Amino acid sequence: MSSIYPSPEEFVRRANVSGMAAYEELYRRAAQDPEAFWGALAEKEVHWFEKFHTVLEWKAPFAKWFVGGKTNASYNCIDRHLETPRKNKVAILWEGEPGDQRAITYQELHRLVCRFANVLKSRGYKAGDRAIVYMPMVPELPIALLACARLGVTHSVVFGGFSAEALKARIQDLGATLVITADGGYRRGKEVRLKDAVDEALRECPDVSNVIVYQRTGSEVVMQADRDHWWHHLDEGASEDCPAEPLDSEHPLYVLYTSGTTGKPKGILHTTGGYVLYTTMTMKWVFDLKEEDTYWCSADIGWVTGHSYIVYGPLAAGATSVIYEGAPDYPAFDRWWRIVEKYRVNIFYTSPTAIRALIRQGDHWPAKHDLSSLRLLGSVGEPINPAAWEWYHRVIGGGRCPIVDTWWQTETGGILIAPLPGAIPQKPGSGTMPLPGVVPDIIDLAGNPVGRDKEGYLIIRKPWPSMIRTIWGDPERYKEQYWSKVPGVYFTGDAARCDSDGYYWVLGRVDDVMNVSGHRLSTMEVESALVRHPAVAEAAVVGKPHEITGQAVCCFVTLKKGDFSHETLGKELRQWVAHEIGAFARPEEIRFSDSLPKTRSGKIMRRLLREIVTSNSVSGDVTTLEDLSVITKLAAQQDDE
Ligand code: PRX
Repeated sequence: MSSIYPSPEEFVRRANVSGMAAYEELYRRAAQDPEAFWGALAEKEVHWFEKFHTVLEWKAPFAKWFVGGKTNASYNCIDRHLETPRKNKVAILWEGEPGDQRAITYQELHRLVCRFANVLKSRGYKAGDRAIVYMPMVPELPIALLACARLGVTHSVVFGGFSAEALKARIQDLGATLVITADGGYRRGKEVRLKDAVDEALRECPDVSNVIVYQRTGSEVVMQADRDHWWHHLDEGASEDCPAEPLDSEHPLYVLYTSGTTGKPKGILHTTGGYVLYTTMTMKWVFDLKEEDTYWCSADIGWVTGHSYIVYGPLAAGATSVIYEGAPDYPAFDRWWRIVEKYRVNIFYTSPTAIRALIRQGDHWPAKHDLSSLRLLGSVGEPINPAAWEWYHRVIGGGRCPIVDTWWQTETGGILIAPLPGAIPQKPGSGTMPLPGVVPDIIDLAGNPVGRDKEGYLIIRKPWPSMIRTIWGDPERYKEQYWSKVPGVYFTGDAARCDSDGYYWVLGRVDDVMNVSGHRLSTMEVESALVRHPAVAEAAVVGKPHEITGQAVCCFVTLKKGDFSHETLGKELRQWVAHEIGAFARPEEIRFSDSLPKTRSGKIMRRLLREIVTSNSVSGDVTTLEDLSVITKLAAQQDDE
């Protein structure tokens, strides 16, 4: 029996959706007539230059929402607030790692975005073009996104932790002609250099004709004449008048690359009208956003959480959104709590991996600070273990803040399963119930619902406004990945169970995707990186349970003939993967082996490797294994590090 935490009465009384009956009524209305439900909300919550004529055109698995409508995400995030008392409200409350601060009002944001949009325009960029954004967490990052969105330039943010290799692959796949970057940013007191990686990537990206460089650290960078321009030079004297382009509701707003089951990341496409509506609604429903709230999502804008819940959702909903540039432990482990206290943050949204890392440092860090402004907490990225949930609730939330455990994916664009905090009592570890308009189920591979209290595949039955539209340039892969396992339903790739109260418990991925610190990484991606190394013959990668990061990357490697020191090569390969993909993908462990466990048809049996890294033994069926002695050898082996 898991414990139940109802939200405090005072919270429920003031909540945007107050009480279970209100949630059920909302859910019932959405289920009964989804198009009427979303249509009415779209009219009320989104600004349209031209109204849509059809709410949903569903030619499975391709959806078009608010067909015929003309809108603009940048307009919805900025301009429409300027006619209201929000015009001088702080939109972005920013703190750099060194301690510098900026408070940018909606009016100021409008000026900055218009200026930068004019810069892009003057260099010939227009709707349909594609830009890669590779920046630190400075206000100019959301400004760049909103300027692109204003013109209809489709953006793709590449997380600053990705390497030049990863950056190059994304620039090429997207066919980008513009890169927006910075000299660097700050992390743990050191400069993370970005422009150098751009230079390396661009050696093989001839289509990029402009690189705009924001000066953050002032360190030396190489500027290539004609191609590279300083942001502040171009911005000087740019006009502050740049009307937002009326764009089709289905205009591609952004592409965000995420790991799939192959070595090649997929470009998840999100479009405009439905995305703006859904992120706005979830800010109100899940985060119970009030006009006076100071809201802080600690994610990086390089991931989908930052797109939907630092930039588009909060700004479209007119919130004050806090952005912090650096690491949570710099200069000490109370940096986050310092920020909460200083800005009187009311809503705080972070990941289980961060929570676990902070638990380990001890309660005296948060205890130094007055966290009484907090009224709501959120979690995202992976299942949160009940012990971490309870610590978060007690130590950070002072026992008075509901916790919204939000289940969603890059592909879903917004939160699909989470407790509406004024309505649904929470059970630690469960995302609880689906949001209005979201119809999940748990099924077996034949497509049959497994019923209550049984594990199965989590699927979504009906389209929702912020859903993935396709994989950039690869509609066949989109169909195959998400809609073909069980025809006609969206396959999430997660295993889950629904308990007898109707609460969903997401258990983790069922495919070869690892979740390291809430970041998705495919085993294949790491394997392909490893086999590009000249010494490696073959590699198999699995996720290994890890106390802080949820999973850690564990690699089994066979070597080509030669005289290698395992110790030196182990270090080199970890560095190699970090260089090929990014530092966050650096393997925790490299194990060398003469061979890998394979089926007679030559397929690597990762299931067995997972068991070895978890328990150093193998149970279950090994009859398909070609050479049983491999297992004994691998299990006997200790980490070669
Ligand atoms: O396995 C689920 C896990 O993260 C995956 C999605 O990863 P990504 O696209 O990188 O997006 C992360 C941020 C939205 C899911 O398939 N996941 C995410 N949130 C939760 C979760 N698992 C359990 N509980 C969650 N709250």
